[in-house]
Amino acid sequence: MANESFDLVVIGAGPGGYVAAIRAAQLGMTVAMVEKRTTLGGTCLNVGCIPSKALLQSSHLFEEVGHDLGTHGIVVEPPKLDFAQLMKRKGEVVGATTKGVEFLFKKNKITTFQGAGRIEKAGTVSVLAADGAVKDTLTAKNILIASGSEVTPLPGVAVDEKKIVSSTGALELSEVPKRLVVIGAGIIGLELGSVWRRLGSDVTVVEFLDRIAPGIDDEVTKHFQRALAKQGLKFKLGAKVTKAETGASGVKLTVEPAKGGAAETLEADVVLVAIGRRPFVEGLGLDKAGVKLTVRGRIEVDAHLQTSVPGIWAIGDVIDGPMLAHKASEDGIAVVETIAGQKGHVNWDLVPSVVYTQPEVAWVGKTEEQLKQAAVAYKIGKYPFTADPRSRANGTTEGFVKVLADKGTDEVLGVHIIGAEAGTMIAEACTAMEFSASAEDIGRICHAHPTVSESLKEAALAAWDKPIHL
Ligand code: FAD
Ligand code: NAI
Repeated sequence: MANESFDLVVIGAGPGGYVAAIRAAQLGMTVAMVEKRTTLGGTCLNVGCIPSKALLQSSHLFEEVGHDLGTHGIVVEPPKLDFAQLMKRKGEVVGATTKGVEFLFKKNKITTFQGAGRIEKAGTVSVLAADGAVKDTLTAKNILIASGSEVTPLPGVAVDEKKIVSSTGALELSEVPKRLVVIGAGIIGLELGSVWRRLGSDVTVVEFLDRIAPGIDDEVTKHFQRALAKQGLKFKLGAKVTKAETGASGVKLTVEPAKGGAAETLEADVVLVAIGRRPFVEGLGLDKAGVKLTVRGRIEVDAHLQTSVPGIWAIGDVIDGPMLAHKASEDGIAVVETIAGQKGHVNWDLVPSVVYTQPEVAWVGKTEEQLKQAAVAYKIGKYPFTADPRSRANGTTEGFVKVLADKGTDEVLGVHIIGAEAGTMIAEACTAMEFSASAEDIGRICHAHPTVSESLKEAALAAWDKPIHL
């Protein structure tokens, strides 16, 4: 049993915790990481961002080769799917990425303790084995909770990770299901629904609300839904699943209109439950340590991400804010810089979001609906990719860029992109907005030609005055 002392003990090695640990070590702290998984990287690297993007990329190539090359004059035999190789590659991508974090930990002399971390009191963390026995006791000047989140369960639809799966099971299916029903048209439902549709499943997405992807600008959402429907995703909006019965031939789902009415039955080989994630706080010893939760069950923190107990901090999915890897990482850096006596800071107003479907959807800042609600006078500049020569050359003219700017000052307040390279393009909007750019500023920046990023310049010109190419 180790009885060691550190400047910082981090609980949870996801993108919040592992990035915080590395930055803390760079700042000269002695750092311990307590992680209950056997690999580093948390949800994101093991069962989230990275495996899902590997499958999105493979399935995108499969679809492209199968359907989209004819227009370029490239004639290919219908491609065959080597499913085992596709899944093996995904595993290799995950393995290389988690090993990369292990390497960085060694390089930065971070000590990893494998086991569940339980806070005994400010300054003391026990590391528990799977049977609950205390393996190690660590003392620390500061403790950082980065325990992340878990799948929100749906009453009446019990996940078995075989026929009724969470996102974790949906990344590990043993074959392409003929019929997949996805419950929840959020980011996971749309990304993983797209993966399996591209690989050959008949996919129906059941969503409680009467729109898909809540949180995205309405105009973008409407375009997005049309694009996904054109690809073959079926949507049942304003509907809720109330019961699931698993039998030999699959799963029978009872679906009712959200506002009440007659129920219907949907049959599926596999059902994916993707109705959101909830903070993971079980077993952390928060009660005993006196760490308070918010009414929504997340850990309560102040503006510096310190919990109600001095010396205990929390970041990432377990606190308020968007459940995104890059947000968790920025939280982590801010905390350890604050502990080191620097001015740790995150601009939570400018956290970008990306949905990695095809087209991609990316946004930063306010939606039009949010500006209306806040009674802000705004103007809109829009530019469709059909008008962009590089998009035409690439054969990816679906979508548009929308810039929202303050009517009085011209400051950019929100950028929303739906298009093939939206996820890459949004970084420019983030940079500009971090420096409080006006639409005119972006419109006057020289963009390389021909690149799809010229569409952001044109949309900014449209918001400020007039686009050139429209
Ligand atoms: P996590 O990554 O959840 O890590 C927490 C870690 O803490 C886990 O490893 C857990 O085992 C460990 N832990 C918990 N309690 C204890 C304890 N008591 N002791 C020891 N260890 C403990 N976000 C994006 O930005 N981009 C994406 O493309 C994206 N794709 C996603 C796809 C899927 C399918 C899913 C499920 C999520 C995706 N996300 C994505 C969200 C992203 O994974 C999370 O926002 C991110 O992982 C949060 O980081 P975190 O460090 O707060 O927590
Ligand atoms: P989500 O919150 O994005 O979407 C859940 C959806 O389920 C919502 O549309 C909601 O209205 C719907 N819903 C809720 N209850 C329902 C019910 N009973 N029946 C039918 N529909 C119901 O959650 P999701 O997709 O599970 O993802 C969780 C989190 O993971 C996201 O919030 C996101 O932050 C993160 N993530 C990020 C990704 C990215 O950045 N590309 C990719 C995947 C996940």
